[in-house]
Amino acid sequence: MGIIDHQLNLTGAQPLFETLITCMSDGILIADENGRVLCQNDTICKMLGEDDSKALSRTTLDRIFNLATQSSCAAVAYAQPGSPLDNFVRVQEQIESDQGTRDLELYMGTVTLADENRNLKVVISHDCTDQKAVTGHPAFEQQGFITNDREMLSILSRMEQIADSPAPILLMGESGTGKTQIARMIHEQSPRADKPLVELNCAAIPEQLLESELFGHVKGAFTGATQKRKGRFQAAHGGTLLLDEIGEIPLHLQAKLLRAIQDQKFEPVGSDKTVKVDVRVISATNQDLKKMVNEGNFRADLFYRLAVVPINIPPLRDRVGDIPLLLKHFCSDLTERGYPDDVACTPEAMRMMMDYNWPGNVREMINAVEHAYICAVDKAVVPESLPQDIRHFTVPAPFTNIIDVPSLYGRRVDDMPQGQPRGNGEAEEIRQTLHACNGNKSAAAKALGIDRTTLWRRMRKFGLA
Ligand SMILES: Nc1ncnc2c1ncn2[C@@H]1O[C@H](COP(=O)(O)OP(=O)(O)OP(=O)(O)O)[C@@H](O)[C@H]1O
Ligand SMILES: [Mg+2]
Repeated sequence: MGIIDHQLNLTGAQPLFETLITCMSDGILIADENGRVLCQNDTICKMLGEDDSKALSRTTLDRIFNLATQSSCAAVAYAQPGSPLDNFVRVQEQIESDQGTRDLELYMGTVTLADENRNLKVVISHDCTDQKAVTGHPAFEQQGFITNDREMLSILSRMEQIADSPAPILLMGESGTGKTQIARMIHEQSPRADKPLVELNCAAIPEQLLESELFGHVKGAFTGATQKRKGRFQAAHGGTLLLDEIGEIPLHLQAKLLRAIQDQKFEPVGSDKTVKVDVRVISATNQDLKKMVNEGNFRADLFYRLAVVPINIPPLRDRVGDIPLLLKHFCSDLTERGYPDDVACTPEAMRMMMDYNWPGNVREMINAVEHAYICAVDKAVVPESLPQDIRHFTVPAPFTNIIDVPSLYGRRVDDMPQGQPRGNGEAEEIRQTLHACNGNKSAAAKALGIDRTTLWRRMRKFGLA
């Protein structure tokens, strides 16, 4: 790329200028006062997620220029007053790219060309993702929970507000994504922190005992009830009750649970005396409760009561940027537990971990890191040090016999004729391909013949992200 518009008159210095901006590892863009691009390098297109295009789209340009003028919390002054860059601001942006979430710093301001009295807009983009991972400064680190992912950060930014309110919370996400840890953090940050947090895994209690486990029983209520016993609701009085695997609550108990959460009262098994409590309920599930509601296996009224504050935790494969950070974090944990502190990871092993789809999410990673340490060769984590599932993982082949969408073969979604309707059909193709690829975006993008960033943009457009 380089100089686009020769209104940017650099006379004899032009070749030198072009060489410099082409070779720069940072992105650069110069525009006139109206935002018309005069000069840019390929790096800025790649960094801003448009590596499949030769120039930044108008939408991206407008978004970037707007960032500089938005509220002061987005843009912070970059240089000291009086310096030549004193109108420059720095903005931090997270961008989805085919390497996962990237952290960018954008420096933006105006430079006046003295002899022509023209103001040029200048944007410089710097990718600091690896720096962040290497220096170990995640955007969020609290109570051992770390993330740099934009979606997670937006959840965590509401944490204080969420913790303050007594409203029920429903945490949804695959196993091992951090639901229990987040529930504990919410309790710790809530005004109930000095009262008990009682945890109950609904899947771990036999169905016939669950009612008594939740609400308690009186002596003689059933065979074996030799003593009066308080249930978990009473144990959590004043505090928080975490109901894990809430999808496992049998239908016949759901009405009673709804009343306990809504009206904060219930009768222990075998008793007609109403017990009143003050309990905040956080529930967690890795099941699709909405689907269960539609299929008649979960009460709609209970679902809506549980999900006053719904929180969706994305799987680890959708926040690839978190992988190096979490690896580093768990390596330090191992060192603290007595493992050697000079074990290094080879780029091949790192690549495998970045490509893997982590069905067991963070929990699986904790175990994989320990496995890798134990099997390290000469203090190096090599591919052979990794658990078999990671070593043998191959990005799923494009859906032969898995889905029947002939239109996908041999054609890029991008190549569709302009006039062809691309609404629901395209969304459905993307949805099915993602499903066939187990949610792995890299694999789905490959199968669709588009790059991961384009897939991500389309997913956002169709509300699939
Ligand atoms: N972002 C994170 N940073 C650090 N540790 C994490 C993070 N997310 C999860 N973990 C750790 O991963 C493990 C699994 O997390 P957790 O038990 O909260 O998952 P879960 O979603 O409740 O799983 P399940 O559905 O099986 O109950 C825990 O040891 C937790 O501390
Ligand atoms: Mg859990």
